[in-house]
Amino acid sequence: MAEAARQASPMPTGRPKVSFQGVEKVYRAASGGREPTRALDAFDLQIVPGEIVSIIGPTGCGKSTALNILAGFEQATAGVVRVDDEIVTGPGRNRGVVFQQPSLFPWMSVLDNVVLGVKCRGGDPTAYGPRALELLAEVGLAGFERHYPYQLSGGMQQRVQIARALIGEPDILLMDEPFGALDYQTRLLMQKLLLRLWAHFRPTILFITHDVGEAIFISDRVIAMTRRPGRVKLAVEVHAPKPRDYEFLGSPEFIRLEHELVLAVQGEVEGREAEAAH
Ligand SMILES: Nc1ncnc2c1ncn2[C@@H]1O[C@H](COP(=O)(O)OP(=O)(O)OP(=O)(O)O)[C@@H](O)[C@H]1O
Ligand SMILES: [Mg+2]
Repeated sequence: MAEAARQASPMPTGRPKVSFQGVEKVYRAASGGREPTRALDAFDLQIVPGEIVSIIGPTGCGKSTALNILAGFEQATAGVVRVDDEIVTGPGRNRGVVFQQPSLFPWMSVLDNVVLGVKCRGGDPTAYGPRALELLAEVGLAGFERHYPYQLSGGMQQRVQIARALIGEPDILLMDEPFGALDYQTRLLMQKLLLRLWAHFRPTILFITHDVGEAIFISDRVIAMTRRPGRVKLAVEVHAPKPRDYEFLGSPEFIRLEHELVLAVQGEVEGREAEAAH
């Protein structure tokens, strides 16, 4: 497909689960008189139910801002974000969030940390013990429920975070560089784990990463953003069937998409450097 056509048709068919329309975000200057920061401008993105969409882009281009607006942690300055046709005005139990840094409570066991995911969403935690154990088994942590976070590796802590995000049965999973702090081998394992969990629960996933290969490996669609203020620069579809295995990493489709996306993002990064040099 010609690049122009792909750029012009980033929107999948079908009723969207998530829709960003003309979203703008300006962060007011903190006291001290710095200029306001325009993080997003005319950001448009539709995601259909069960789709996995990754966002890549230069640092500071507004990726986390977009995810935080969808999570309900930040408000757009203009434009709207909808989930199932409802305008997002705050956090909700239909959206589970996983961050880059494990955010587990160190004084709570793994099991209590997972069950807390329900408590935070207003559910009754005592009813969820068995479900938490099932989820821990699902993410490969059977037998670790009485451990404390300091007794776990970074990859294991991220698994606990994923179990915690899933326990409220959200139909949308928001992941902001969830594997960014992990070593390469653990990352690959986590990517496969995510695809396994997706096959089981079929959530809609918005995933942010700096790793182009990771984005392609897990996604149905990869969005490359412009530099700040961030907009969609390029959207590419990944057609390889899921679940995917490591063979996909050497396939012509993977290599072609990787090349195209690296060029799109580096073009933005180098454009900014050239501007800064003037
Ligand atoms: N709470 C805030 N107050 C003021 N400015 C902010 C705030 N959060 C983000 N920004 C600014 O908005 C811009 C976009 O930030 P954002 O965190 O969304 O970028 P990002 O694409 O996630 O970057 P990275 O890849 O480094 O995580 C940056 O210039 C950042 O400094
Ligand atoms: Mg970020």
